[in-house]
Amino acid sequence: MEVALVYNMKKEETDAADSGTEPSSQNITDVSTQIKENTQSADTYAEWDTVETISAIRDALSLRHSISLIEADEDAFEKIRRLQPEIVFNIAEGQFGVSREAQIPAMLELLNIPYSGSDPLTLAVCLDKSRAKEILSYYKIPTPNFFVLYSLSDLSSLSVEYPCMVKPLCEGSSKGIFDASLVRTPQELNAQVENILVSYNEPVIVEEFLPGREFTVAMLGNADDVQVLPVVEIKFDSLPNGVNPIYSFEAKWIWDQSSNPLDIFECPARVTPSLQNSIETICKDAYKVLRCRDWSRIDVRLDNTGNPNIIEINPLPGILPKPEDNSCYPKAARAAGISYAEMLNRVLDSACRRYGLL
Ligand SMILES: Nc1ncnc2c1ncn2[C@@H]1O[C@H](COP(=O)(O)OP(=O)(O)O)[C@@H](O)[C@H]1O
Ligand SMILES: [Mg+2]
Repeated sequence: MEVALVYNMKKEETDAADSGTEPSSQNITDVSTQIKENTQSADTYAEWDTVETISAIRDALSLRHSISLIEADEDAFEKIRRLQPEIVFNIAEGQFGVSREAQIPAMLELLNIPYSGSDPLTLAVCLDKSRAKEILSYYKIPTPNFFVLYSLSDLSSLSVEYPCMVKPLCEGSSKGIFDASLVRTPQELNAQVENILVSYNEPVIVEEFLPGREFTVAMLGNADDVQVLPVVEIKFDSLPNGVNPIYSFEAKWIWDQSSNPLDIFECPARVTPSLQNSIETICKDAYKVLRCRDWSRIDVRLDNTGNPNIIEINPLPGILPKPEDNSCYPKAARAAGISYAEMLNRVLDSACRRYGLL
């Protein structure tokens, strides 16, 4: 098939793709250096993909299809319209606003071009952590209690129990979630809320802190055929001494380097059959009520009674290609005996099946 891979490439790398040249490893920015220099602002493009990831996806899909690359910039609509691919493999995270992940799928719906992954509604709802949690709550799917704050003055009417988590409402890739985001006092809460309001210029979600084990769960497929890939556990005892048990920006991008990987994941997670079953059930339920399609990665944490709760749903999961990059979706696939290339082709096949193209 004629497949267009639509992506956002980390800023410093766009030149290679836009000039029509082969993305080359020389253009790969050392994101970690950038991040180390200025942790608080260097996460601006944390959600976007590197030239290395985009090339790996292109190579994987090229095994079975003819692939064109399209940068999801302001010319994307015209580029896709001209190309008229049979289907789009969408990994575009978008740039502006809470609907940013929904924009390319919305354009594709306007152009009546099939695409992989969730629709604009699901992508936008899942990016807004409070909207997703409202839907989960409606269906009585456990998720931590929460409040949304729009300004510092909203703190005065808030009655929270400590500790709690303070997060930007609409980010991913641990953007805005630092070791200090787990707060234990009103002073710490105040400082973190202010930090997010100022640095991210967006509302803040304050959540009950779940102290139990954490898992992330890769889902593949649709409806009754949805497959729960081997569960990944995030092992907080591998973090540096004295830090909080959360999968923070520091844990994801600073303490974990491909040259010196943090041994933070265990896959398959060591869980009892009953816990495995309750994790699978909650993830399938969340996937269904949020109307996820083809794939997603769902973060789950146990509450103080050992029950799984949904932390968030990622309908556009990160898919760094190299095992040492410690990307959870490909890791779960590998544990199931599914190679990176096979994994991506299965996601595309799921989409093709939905549209009756397979
Ligand atoms: N309510 C919570 N209770 C316990 N840990 C949390 C909670 N919310 C977030 N965390 C921790 O912070 C991490 C990042 O939060 P998450 O909402 O998944 O943000 P992101 O979209 O950046 O991945 C989680 O993986 C978890 O370790
Ligand atoms: Mg997460």
